[in-house]
Amino acid sequence: MTAAMIIKSADFVTSAVKPSQYPADQYPEVAFAGRSNVGKSSLINTLVNRKRLVKTSSTPGRTQLINFFQVNQALSLVDLPGYGYAKVPMAVKRHWGPMIETYLKDRQSLKAVVLIMDIRRTPGIEEKNFIDWLRLYRRTPILVLTKADKLSKTKQKNQRRAIAAALEVGEPELILFSAKTRLGKPMVWSAIAATALDEVCDDD
Ligand code: GTP
Ligand code: MG
Repeated sequence: MTAAMIIKSADFVTSAVKPSQYPADQYPEVAFAGRSNVGKSSLINTLVNRKRLVKTSSTPGRTQLINFFQVNQALSLVDLPGYGYAKVPMAVKRHWGPMIETYLKDRQSLKAVVLIMDIRRTPGIEEKNFIDWLRLYRRTPILVLTKADKLSKTKQKNQRRAIAAALEVGEPELILFSAKTRLGKPMVWSAIAATALDEVCDDD
């Protein structure tokens, strides 16, 4: 199945660090998680056909708040701050884990979590633990390997196999993506539709 989301509107709603600042959970929500600088914000922009709805940056750790966006008054997209090696002060870092954990655990309208990984890097125990933790809370993630444009077709295949083994998932579960070439965009939308949406996607 392929699904195309026809984007009529895509708007920033608000930024939050704690539940009292979240917007009303009115629409099904999809969150985007992954290491700092992996390409979370770029992926959201690609999904909604915008160059700069979400701020992107070559400086890791640029997104430090939970940012809520609304699409077509039907769907909510959430850009999470990156975890991992961000160059941020320890004091800020200490707040991140709990901030993201609270959101992922408690948010009622959250229907899908897209976990974005760099195709060039074989994930370690951190990602494996994160996936297990999400499953524990019944939030089986949609797994995306981004920046595919940086590798040849052969290397893409090899990396996909290595990453599937590291994460102990089947290769078809890993969606190859590129914000540069838009590779995989329909696949990500159809995975979102399958997990989170009933009728806001049209088949194409
Ligand atoms: P933080 O908010 O800092 O955690 O980063 P992020 O995960 O939101 O990453 P962001 O989308 O800001 O992208 C980081 C850098 O990677 C930017 O310089 C992007 O242009 C680049 N980038 C993102 N996706 C792709 C991709 O698919 N291909 C290539 N070649 N570059 C990408
Ligand atoms: Mg970002």
